[in-house]
Amino acid sequence: FLTIDDFDVSGKTVLLRVDFNAPMSPEGKVLDDARIRSHVKTILDLKDAKVIVLAHQSRPGKSDFTTTKPHAEILSKHLGKEVRYVDDLFGSYARSCISAMVPGDVILLENVRFFSEESLERSPKEHTHSYFVQKLLPYVDFFLNDAFAVSHRSHLSVVGFTEEIPSGAGRIMESEIVNLERGLNGERPCVYALGGSKVDDSLHVAQNVLSTGSADSVLFSGVVGNVVLAAAGYKIGKANMDLIAKLGYENQIPIAKDLLDKYGKKIKYPADVALNVNGKRVEASLKEMGKSEHPANDIGLETIVAYTNEIENAGTVILNGPAGVSENPDFAIGTHEIIRAGTRSKFSIIGGGHISAEVNRLGIEGQFSHISTGGGACIEYLSGVELPGITALEKAAAKQEMK
Ligand code: 3PG
Repeated sequence: FLTIDDFDVSGKTVLLRVDFNAPMSPEGKVLDDARIRSHVKTILDLKDAKVIVLAHQSRPGKSDFTTTKPHAEILSKHLGKEVRYVDDLFGSYARSCISAMVPGDVILLENVRFFSEESLERSPKEHTHSYFVQKLLPYVDFFLNDAFAVSHRSHLSVVGFTEEIPSGAGRIMESEIVNLERGLNGERPCVYALGGSKVDDSLHVAQNVLSTGSADSVLFSGVVGNVVLAAAGYKIGKANMDLIAKLGYENQIPIAKDLLDKYGKKIKYPADVALNVNGKRVEASLKEMGKSEHPANDIGLETIVAYTNEIENAGTVILNGPAGVSENPDFAIGTHEIIRAGTRSKFSIIGGGHISAEVNRLGIEGQFSHISTGGGACIEYLSGVELPGITALEKAAAKQEMK
């Protein structure tokens, strides 16, 4: 694909899709600004252009599905100049703000997922016909995708502009591809440690990496770990089942069962857990978990020993998603030990905003081979799946070359 170096953006208007998706406090404060900081280099490299930044925060229905206003304030701080937050996407207010821009200006539009068509998995052609794209097209000269982390989604703001205007990759996108390619050709055994609460994504990746043979084992933890436990026939307790139902993942239990039937011993799930008993960490066996009304908020000590042993002896490890409720120090032990074990393996890749935030908290960013800005995108890329956002850029480059 093409990059910033292939375009003369001076004086032009660039629509830049970034991934600022961050963990948020209940009060709407950004808890970790690593992703926002990561895009600063790209924006600095566009200093002579008018830059319209487009980003999402979380998903509809989630408590951290908020405005991008705090993100604009943080970006302003890191860029050392004001980034105007525009609480609109393609309406007349957004368009008049764009018209008023001068070279050097940077504006951040509203959370792009406030527009429901954004998240439809559609082809670039279908997205191109949307109001969103049609209304903004006359105002932009170039489209740059620096949002590697959401490029596994065929969403409007990822693929909707690439067929219409010259399009290329930002600096993050470039560096992700270079580093992940290094990981792909890494040493065996290759271990995936998948946690967090995006159960559907994690099971999908496990299915891919196990079927292609690119993983030697998959260690599950977090909410997806509980889904796998339920699939293996364990009683996981009411609180944990309720959470799975609340997140809409009951339908993932048979999918996990299918994986267990197909790949047996290559799939590891927790042997014990840590229950949250009125705010206190209490170690519990799986039997105790099944009888308890309290939620499991971390993997237990026995599981920590087994998982870290496997991780530190791996040739390549990919760590994605926290093992528990890592915002709470008592339940961050599993996640932190898995992270530390990762630094002792030969080649280590961290994927996902939440686990990267924990790496930052531990202050050991420098000890990993690569910290990807992507979660699902990172593991899908590693599992050999074509990412629609990247395919769209490749097509755009081929079109440019023909001209
Ligand atoms: C991420 O956090 O992995 C990206 O921002 C994509 O978010 P999504 O899984 O909600 O699409």
